[in-house]
Amino acid sequence: MPISPGSGTSDPHYFSAQPEGPSRPQQVRWRLPDRLVLLWTDRGVFARGKVDRGTDLLARVMRLPEEGHILDLGAGYGPLGIVAALRSPKARVTLVEINQRAAALAEKNLALNGVRNAEVLVGEATQVLGTRKFDAVVTNPPLRAGKPEVLRLLRDAHERLRPGGSLWFVAQTKQGAKTLAREVAGFAPQVTLVEVEGGYRVYQASKPSSPSAYRLSPPAHDTSTIRYRYCALSLPTTTSPGPRE
Ligand SMILES: C[S@@+](CC[C@H](N)C(=O)[O-])C[C@H]1O[C@@H](n2cnc3c(N)ncnc32)[C@H](O)[C@@H]1O
Repeated sequence: MPISPGSGTSDPHYFSAQPEGPSRPQQVRWRLPDRLVLLWTDRGVFARGKVDRGTDLLARVMRLPEEGHILDLGAGYGPLGIVAALRSPKARVTLVEINQRAAALAEKNLALNGVRNAEVLVGEATQVLGTRKFDAVVTNPPLRAGKPEVLRLLRDAHERLRPGGSLWFVAQTKQGAKTLAREVAGFAPQVTLVEVEGGYRVYQASKPSSPSAYRLSPPAHDTSTIRYRYCALSLPTTTSPGPRE
């Protein structure tokens, strides 16, 4: 089963609205512990021919609401949004993607996997999402677009969360995952390191259920016996000792 280590880095133009070059579709089989997902991929899209390792890790550890509205931000050909829709059949899932070729593949892949509770929006996320709010957001962000752009997208995604919602994101450690998480902690009251594996880190940035929870959040500390799981990064609005990993 093909899983690509950092495959997205092989094509610097995967986030173009209209990728150049001829199409050459290729189907991949993505095996997760709970299901097999079939995906059409193509030239000019992220992780062509192989599901990215970071995407695979995020899909394995993310915990999503059974109902409500879930966003796959920068969906590519749709792996995360499809898994979210299949695992939470009562939820509605929106996949948003700027790359038109990838978005068309995502539409095709929804049908291929029998997904009926999802939609694909094509365009720049912050523009096409309008005023939509979400109960969870999942993303393998476009690090190649640069940190300011990634932070803009993550901040917008966090602002769209309903109280109690979570933003789940993955990044490669050598591509600055720790720094990215610290920057996210600047606008998200609680950022948790959920998993570290194969050079990737998965984080969960939660929005408290009520505004008062911003002040009532517990201090940052490792709440798990597992070394890397559930380490709060920082709580800027409390007396927390600050970021730690
Ligand atoms: C790292 S790839 C992840 C793709 C897919 N989620 C996966 O895991 O295979 C990031 C995706 O975000 C898309 N993207 C970049 N900037 C975007 C934006 N402003 N709005 C919507 N999508 C964007 C890129 O085209 C790319 O497909």
